[in-house]
This record gives sequence, structure tokens and C-alpha cells, in this order.
Amino acid sequence: MVQVATAGQPLLRARGVVKRYGGLAAVDGVDFDVLDGETFGIAGPNGAGKTTLFDVVTGIVGATAGEIEFAGKPIQNASVHGICHAGIARTFQLPSVFDSQTVLANVLVGAQYGQGGSWFGSTRAKPEVLARAKDELVFVGLGARAGALAGPMPVFDKKRLMIASALATQPRMLFLDEPFGGLSPSEVDELMVLLTKVKARGITIVLIEHVMRALMALSDRVLIMNQGKTLFQGSPHDVLRDAEVVRVYLGKRGDKDKDDA
Ligand SMILES: Nc1ncnc2c1ncn2[C@@H]1O[C@H](COP(=O)(O)OP(=O)(O)OP(=O)(O)O)[C@@H](O)[C@H]1O
Ligand SMILES: [Mg+2]
Repeated sequence: MVQVATAGQPLLRARGVVKRYGGLAAVDGVDFDVLDGETFGIAGPNGAGKTTLFDVVTGIVGATAGEIEFAGKPIQNASVHGICHAGIARTFQLPSVFDSQTVLANVLVGAQYGQGGSWFGSTRAKPEVLARAKDELVFVGLGARAGALAGPMPVFDKKRLMIASALATQPRMLFLDEPFGGLSPSEVDELMVLLTKVKARGITIVLIEHVMRALMALSDRVLIMNQGKTLFQGSPHDVLRDAEVVRVYLGKRGDKDKDDA
């Protein structure tokens, strides 16, 4: 697939980002820019520090060192809700939804909270919040499941629900941690279409993924991490030919799907 580079300005700038857990540098001095409107892919072996990098950028854990700028403003010391209100939303590697709530109630949290609304305010009083939550459920293909309980849903539905909840916060930038993991080939195809539609809305995507066919097809540029550091940064076309990436991550075939993680 031919990739067309996106000519946006940097929306996110990360410089010298370090996150230490005791003696372990889970992220060990990573520099990257994410351009406005592009899809930026991140891959690398298990334990490379990909999720930790997401956790640092989205404020779940503080950076040990480094600078992170979003839309020209430093965010490395901002709170999770401050970063969300600034326009960054994320999903998690393991499906994490409010199991005991309905699908619609899950998305309402994002719709209400992403606007900077009070946790305790009534969402019923705000028809526009309800409408946005319903719109995002339709967008991800869960319109007919609005009244279902979230807990018993299959993995694909939970992953789409996380995406709907994130989109309901009206982000400029969406971080997705292995959204394709555990999906069947046809579900992978369906999610690829959905993420293409997210991009078409002008939302910048940062995508951690082991399923290489999805990563390669969706990403404008990729970052390969290993042991907390940058192993490769460049076009998805070139990554498959990089000897170090093949040696450390892809293996001899270079095209196999790392979808067993
Ligand atoms: N909260 C934590 N406390 C201590 N160590 C942690 C913590 N979170 C992550 N680590 C360690 O940091 C390293 C990077 O983990 P991380 O989850 O970021 O890797 P990853 O690239 O997302 O891997 P995977 O592909 O398996 O999801 C690992 O050695 C992990 O054990
Ligand atoms: Mg991870």
C-alpha cells in the first residue's frame, strides 16, 4: 500500500523522555514528533516500553525526565484530566470498560468528562452530551448495543467501546494501545476501516500495534522501540528492510504478524 505522508505541523513533541521504575529505565530517552493529522505507529518487542510511553504522555505516570509538548504547551507535569481536556484521549491494552454499566453509560462518561464537565453533574440534563455519546456508538458500530451491559461483551465490542468513549471526549489526538490484539482477521479488517474513518475526521492517531499488517497499512510513520530506546524511526516501507529491526523484532520473514502478545 502506498503511503501518502501527511504535511502537518508537529502536534506532539517528545524530547529525552525517560521513565524509571527503580533501577529499570522502561523508557530511556526517546525523542519523537507526531504531526497533526498523521497516524504514528509504535511497535517493538514485549517490554520495550511502548505502553509506559503512553502512560507518561497521557499523565498516568510522571516522566522521570524529558519534555513533552502538546499543541505548543508543556504537558509533562499535567494531570490525567488536564491532558484529556487539552485534547488527548487513549484506550488501554487490556479491554477496560465499566463492566457493570451499560454501553451508553460508558460512553457518557467520556462525553461528559471530556468537556471538562463535573463527574457529579447530571448527564441527563445535557441533550448534546447524550447525542454525542450516541453518535460515537453509531460511529464505532455499536449503535444497536447501547442498552446492553458492557461486562459480558466480546473483546472486539469492548475495544470499540473504549474507542467510542475516547472519541466522545472530542480529542485532537487518540492514543490506541494494541487495539488489534486478540481480534479475528475479519475483525482486524473492520477495525482498520474504522480507524481510517477516525483519521478522516482529522484526528491524529498514535497506534501501538504488534499486528504488522494493520500497523503498516495505517501508519504514515513508525517508531520501533527496544529496551526503552528508539531502534528505528521512519517510513513503514523502510522498517521492513531495516536489519536491526528484523534482527530484534520482526525475525527472518520480516512480514509476520506479531499478534500473539
Ligand atoms: N508500573 C510498573 N512498575 C514497574 N515496572 C514496570 C511498570 N510498568 C511497566 N514496567 C516495566 O517496564 C518495562 C516496559 O513495559 P511496557 O508495558 O511499557 O512494555 P510494552 O512495550 O508495552 O510491552 P508489551 O508489548 O508486552 O505490551 C517492562 O520491563 C515492564 O515490566
Ligand atoms: Mg504494552
